[in-house]
Amino acid sequence: MDISRSQHIPVLLEEIVKFLDVAPNDIVVDGTLGLGGHARELLRGIGDDGRYVAFDWDQRNLHEARRRLKKFEGKIQFINDSFDRIDHYSKVLRLPHVSKVLLDLGLSSPHLDVAEFGFSYNKRGPLDMRFSKDKKLSASLIVNKASFEKLREILSRLGEVPSSSKVAKIIIEERDKAPFTYTDEFAERIARAFAPDKRNKHMAQVFQALRIAVNDELNVLHNALHNYFDLLEKGGRMAVISYHSLEDRIVKNFFKDLFRPLETDPERALYSVHGEPLAEFVGKSVMEASDEELDINPRSRSAKLRIIQKL
Ligand SMILES: C[S@@+](CC[C@H](N)C(=O)[O-])C[C@H]1O[C@@H](n2cnc3c(N)ncnc32)[C@H](O)[C@@H]1O
Repeated sequence: MDISRSQHIPVLLEEIVKFLDVAPNDIVVDGTLGLGGHARELLRGIGDDGRYVAFDWDQRNLHEARRRLKKFEGKIQFINDSFDRIDHYSKVLRLPHVSKVLLDLGLSSPHLDVAEFGFSYNKRGPLDMRFSKDKKLSASLIVNKASFEKLREILSRLGEVPSSSKVAKIIIEERDKAPFTYTDEFAERIARAFAPDKRNKHMAQVFQALRIAVNDELNVLHNALHNYFDLLEKGGRMAVISYHSLEDRIVKNFFKDLFRPLETDPERALYSVHGEPLAEFVGKSVMEASDEELDINPRSRSAKLRIIQKL
């Protein structure tokens, strides 16, 4: 499929629009523009004095989003870089602060629909999985070169793949016969590691692990949360949609620490371990897709949305 025909239905759109509650003068940062589904709605709230800064690390998506959002030209600044580089760009773009932040993590539909993106195990694509070609580490490099220990660790920590040692061993046995080149070929050659009825589920976990490792997704997320919270103005809001437990744990723990931060004043620390809360939840502490949304968009199945407001 060609990217111009790929449809990405924005997840939890109603909740994002309602709870981010974009005002005309807001400075909004959309860290994960994708094909601009959330952006299209949020941009309606931005007036002439507001700004919408949109990141996507994947140049192909950014390019396509720019085409789809043509009517908002002039209101958006497009950035082809990782969203955790906001510190750098806030200086370059002279952003005094940020009013609203959206991070809708992970993959967009084109990553799975367009075979050449190389993220899907049931379509023939290059074993790549880099959001940005500037990165050196690709999925191919990992599966063809990483040590047994490293493979095992990636599979178990980043994909929670069961029997990760067995899978790592099979990867090494297979690559000793011939290097892996394509996504579907890699999946076929390691398929014997899993029972046939569990194959799809576990293959998805293997691909998730490789993708997270290639793009260093957990560190990027951890750093970004700190950077965005520092830049957020008082009363500003930050929404994060995560799609698997590793991401969600990072978001949940980061927010929890804001609700009960450690006291930093040494004198007051004599009386209380915890200082004043730095943020509070907006809406429910975790929001998930309704049955109606699941019916039209199965990809919203694992989504968890958390929104906070800075106090
Ligand atoms: C779930 S999609 C976003 C979909 C978007 N909200 C929409 O409604 O169309 C996630 C997007 O984030 C991008 N992405 C992933 N990691 C990124 C990072 N570290 N920095 C910037 N973009 C990233 C991906 O390329 C993908 O386009």
